Amino acid sequence: MGFDIYQEEIIEHYKSPHNKGAMDHPDLFGHGNNPVCGDDITIYLKIKNDIIEDVSFDGRGCAISQASASMLTDRIKGMKLEEIERLSPDYVKEMLHIPLSAVRMKCATLSLKTLQETVSAGGVKNDMH
Ligand code: FES
Repeated sequence: MGFDIYQEEIIEHYKSPHNKGAMDHPDLFGHGNNPVCGDDITIYLKIKNDIIEDVSFDGRGCAISQASASMLTDRIKGMKLEEIERLSPDYVKEMLHIPLSAVRMKCATLSLKTLQETVSAGGVKNDMH
């Protein structure tokens, strides 16, 4: 069944997350947390010509939040910053491919929210230069 395949992919990403670990000398980094459970995440970015050249994440959280961060960081390499800012929670929903309650949706979008806040905070900083 398709559902199980997607669930297995999430478990795989949770067990062996991609792009996990702090980055030396990132161009931007940002921190986010889910106040309901206390899970937190830090996103590190290397950016060149407004394109994500490299990304990693660190932190701790439930299977959905960690798998989502792992899958999202895989997908955003090579994306433009303006594309990142346009990503919606539906993007994450489609990426995970499993039904998500409102509470689980918060877990699933923790990495996206943190990423977007990091990018927009960096944008503000750049504008001031
Ligand atoms: Fe904390 Fe999911 S339970 S992010």
